[in-house]
Amino acid sequence: MSSSENAAQLARSEPSVFVYEWPVRLWHWINALGITVLAITGYFIGSPPPTLSGEPSDHYLFGYIRFAHFAAGYIIGVGFLFRLYWSFVGNKNAREIFLHNILRPTYWKELWHEVKWYLFLVDEPKQYDGHNPLAIFVMHWFFVWGIVFMIVTGFALYGEGTGAGSWAHTLFSSWVIPLFGQSMDVHTWHHFGMWLIIVFVMIHVYVAIREDIMSKQSIISSMISGWRNFKDYDSIPKKK
Ligand code: HEM
Ligand code: HEM
Repeated sequence: MSSSENAAQLARSEPSVFVYEWPVRLWHWINALGITVLAITGYFIGSPPPTLSGEPSDHYLFGYIRFAHFAAGYIIGVGFLFRLYWSFVGNKNAREIFLHNILRPTYWKELWHEVKWYLFLVDEPKQYDGHNPLAIFVMHWFFVWGIVFMIVTGFALYGEGTGAGSWAHTLFSSWVIPLFGQSMDVHTWHHFGMWLIIVFVMIHVYVAIREDIMSKQSIISSMISGWRNFKDYDSIPKKK
């Protein structure tokens, strides 16, 4: 049973549940940091700063920008493989953003309720142990597939630099570049992907802060401690 199906809609019988294991939390914050580095350095790769005076090898500015991009690219790539592995061995919440049952009878109804809740059209939020159905939908279709796209196109561009015969060229450049047409097309789509991820992050951070304030459960602290605390627990009549 997924945590969405576990959703308790009114008062909870327990004050908190454990949701996010440490590998998921560690991955989340390393991933957030990595994407920030990639977006900043990637922006400068696409719109380079003006040429500095002196010998390029003396200041090596663009070299450092590209190095930071590639190092963060490796961290994001290896981190994602690890996160994928953890979705198999971790708890049910570790699987949520990869696998969700869109055929579950109440799934779309609950998702629609979340849309209305975010649009301030309903008064009462629902409670979920893990992510709510709308969060799962957006995280799966925009983040998971978005980051796979960035990793595949990123390593395809990287393989052009490391050259024919390198692992990146064999695994990625050899089929990704012809699939898109030519190298410049991959650059353009990789660049476009950055803006998609940036839009995701902007909405995600807004929603995380909004839900932390407006929902009936802890949000940001849950991605730090792993525990989901329910704010309306005190409203449950206690047995004497
Ligand atoms: C969220 C993840 C990422 C973002 C936001 C991002 C962003 C960008 C952007 C905006 C560019 C400039 C494209 C252009 O206009 O030409 C770029 C270039 C590039 N990126 Fe990424 N990237 C990401 C992930 C990766 C990964 C995982 C790798 C793998 C190593 C990678 C490798 C590259 C390479 C090789 C280039 C071309 C560098 C050059 O031509 O000098 N990127 N990236
Ligand atoms: C580049 C930046 C970020 C990206 C790409 C990102 C992505 C994600 C993803 C994919 C998840 C799902 C985690 C999983 O189930 O494995 C998640 C959850 C979460 N993120 Fe982020 N995140 C970013 C930054 C932030 C920041 C800055 C905050 C804090 C304000 C934050 C707060 C959270 C919270 C609270 C959750 C859990 C939400 C819940 O319990 O429903 N994230 N994030």
